[in-house]
Amino acid sequence: MELVKVKDYNEMSAKACSIILDMMEQEKNPVLGLATGSTPEGLYQQFIHQYNIGNVSFSNVTTFNLDEYVGLSEQDPNSYHYYMKDKLFHHIDINLEQVNIPNGRARDLEQECLDYERKIKESGHIDIQVLGLGLNGHIGFNEPGTAFSSKTHVVKLAESTRKANSRFFSKLEQVPREAITMGIETIMQAKKILLLVSGEKKSNALTRLIEGEVSEDFPASILKHHPNVVVLADTAAC
Ligand code: GLP
Repeated sequence: MELVKVKDYNEMSAKACSIILDMMEQEKNPVLGLATGSTPEGLYQQFIHQYNIGNVSFSNVTTFNLDEYVGLSEQDPNSYHYYMKDKLFHHIDINLEQVNIPNGRARDLEQECLDYERKIKESGHIDIQVLGLGLNGHIGFNEPGTAFSSKTHVVKLAESTRKANSRFFSKLEQVPREAITMGIETIMQAKKILLLVSGEKKSNALTRLIEGEVSEDFPASILKHHPNVVVLADTAAC
């Protein structure tokens, strides 16, 4: 795990963007793993900027998002489908047929998880997976205690995660109790992982990641066993 310290959120976003664009130049059909939350918003703005100035095209890119709430429609502004269109996909030339986000309204959620896992495999695996860090060490929606061997699955959200994410909803009761998430093993199969950590409120989680043991009690700790992880952390988080 390589820790790269950057000055601030903007530098983190710009650096993440340049690492991903470098990879996209080398791959004929790049496969990108994407995340939601506040952390990657700056990265997505950088993508849009690079696209607008003619530096990059996303027309040959396939994407897989980490997760989605169970029960929210794609039109719900709190769904990750909506987030991705609003913050990125509607502003670049990506082919929406090559965009993959778990369907949290699938009739058979278990089947949806199996299908999602199969699609990732068929794509030839994710070239770079972008990750944010939950305050309790969650990655995707893999909460503490999730087996490191987990594949895409339905999860019950920790109350602390519901509370942290309630800032996007008008009331805590509106935050879904379940989500579909790529599993930890699914994430670990990405060829490269880019973990973005910004802000003082993430400093405890970052310290535990760097100094703590590898344990299912802190899901992100497994990244220490991946051969190609870059942690981009800003001064406030460090
Ligand atoms: C959310 C998402 C994660 C995200 C994390 C951190 O619950 N499911 O994918 O990385 O929490 O969010 P933020 O970037 O807003 O701090």
